[in-house]
Amino acid sequence: MTRTCLTIILAAGQGTRMKSDLPKVLHPVAGLPMAAHVARTAQSAGSQQIAVVVGHGGEAVRTALEPVVPGASFHVQHEQLGTGHAVLAARAAIASGHDDVLVVFGDTPLVRADVLAAMRAKLAEGAAVVVAGFRPESPFGYGRLVEKDGKLLAIREERDASSEEKAITYCNGGIMAFRGAEVLAILDAVGNDNAKGEYYMTDAVEIANARGLPVVASQVPTEDVIGVNTRAELAAVEAIWQQRTRQAMMAEGVSMAAPDTVFFHHDTVVAGDVTIEPNVVFGAGVEIAKGARIRSFSHLEGATVGEAAEVGPFARLRPGAVLGGKAKVGNFCEVKKADIGEGAKVNHLTYVGDAEIGAGANIGAGTITCNYDGCNKHLTEIGENAFIGSNSALVAPVKIGADAYVASGSVVTTDVPADAVAFGRARQENKDGLAPKLRAQFKAAKEASKTD
Ligand code: UD1
Ligand code: CA
Repeated sequence: MTRTCLTIILAAGQGTRMKSDLPKVLHPVAGLPMAAHVARTAQSAGSQQIAVVVGHGGEAVRTALEPVVPGASFHVQHEQLGTGHAVLAARAAIASGHDDVLVVFGDTPLVRADVLAAMRAKLAEGAAVVVAGFRPESPFGYGRLVEKDGKLLAIREERDASSEEKAITYCNGGIMAFRGAEVLAILDAVGNDNAKGEYYMTDAVEIANARGLPVVASQVPTEDVIGVNTRAELAAVEAIWQQRTRQAMMAEGVSMAAPDTVFFHHDTVVAGDVTIEPNVVFGAGVEIAKGARIRSFSHLEGATVGEAAEVGPFARLRPGAVLGGKAKVGNFCEVKKADIGEGAKVNHLTYVGDAEIGAGANIGAGTITCNYDGCNKHLTEIGENAFIGSNSALVAPVKIGADAYVASGSVVTTDVPADAVAFGRARQENKDGLAPKLRAQFKAAKEASKTD
């Protein structure tokens, strides 16, 4: 039978070093709050229930996390009396009875599912308490794993450590896993007789040992337990997240000539055989189908790009942009809430917003859909294979029929039937021989202004 798992995310910290009105655990990595990364990873590691421990004023955390981590429960730790005390704030969730209880900090967004799964595996093998051990460059500030004959005896916090213990380089990464049946009894036994006067979750190691329960460390990569306390650390974590994602994308068949210059959102979906040129940024909600090419300096958000379509260079796709197969959106074009049909081309200097463009249509350079009247947005419909001449303004709501032409420079305010040609501009008139006279007139005016 598969074991059930509760993950408790400690998120009560103030995060004052972030110098932000936003609670620390809500600062985003790849557009997703740090604590939500942790919750999703826990779910990937098989955790059915998520409990988030928030501090005073944790309503903001709850409001932000509820939609991204549906079903999570929230528990308030009114005073921050230590990590052990924080876990007990989720007593109601623990009491619902799980085989495994994982405790993870909300500010360590890089923890991977296989790291949590490995800790759970140790519980399955019979451990009652599992500690994530790691070897940082400098152990200063971390709890040290005090071992004897390969057995984990205790975790000693920096402030409480003897000089001998301070020399230990194997440290506590912060994540702990507990046998569900024992966790409450163990943490209820934790006292606060230490240098900080806090209830340390880490004291669970000594308590479990004293009760003859098996305690083990599970070594994890340093990257997975990096905690974020400052904006600089947030940026460093973002960089690692991006690096991992680029590697994963390339492994799945995405080509990037300069991966370090491509930035993904946590939810970006890219199919195989897509090429992403240098300097591309993905915002929320982008999906790219097989064989598409995203050219340099493009910014995409809320957009769907069809098979073998081409975007950019220098294109901006905004929410609701949907490009059909082989469609093209070229340089200095902006597309918002618009369907661009299969094989349609929007190649140069164009704004397409609130529009439906049929397959094979050609939208000339400098075309603008005038979608907004200052109050409401209106739709522009362009039929299949229609041709919109350069520098046209399509004043919505307006329909251009299939196979119709709109002459360059037109201001189109009424519907154009299929197969029609619309001229929405002043007729050109040529005045033979007028240019020299005009030039003479201008020269004279200039001379006159000098003598004044
Ligand atoms: C903790 C560990 C230490 C480990 C280190 C790894 C303990 C006692 N120590 O130390 O062994 O090496 O993490 O980074 O666990 N929190 C609450 N409520 C509280 C106290 C803390 O929610 O009352 C949350 C904090 O917001 C934070 C996390 O728990 O996210 C860790 O607390 P912190 O005080 O930073 O522990 P460390 O001293 O870093
Ligand atoms: Ca910390």
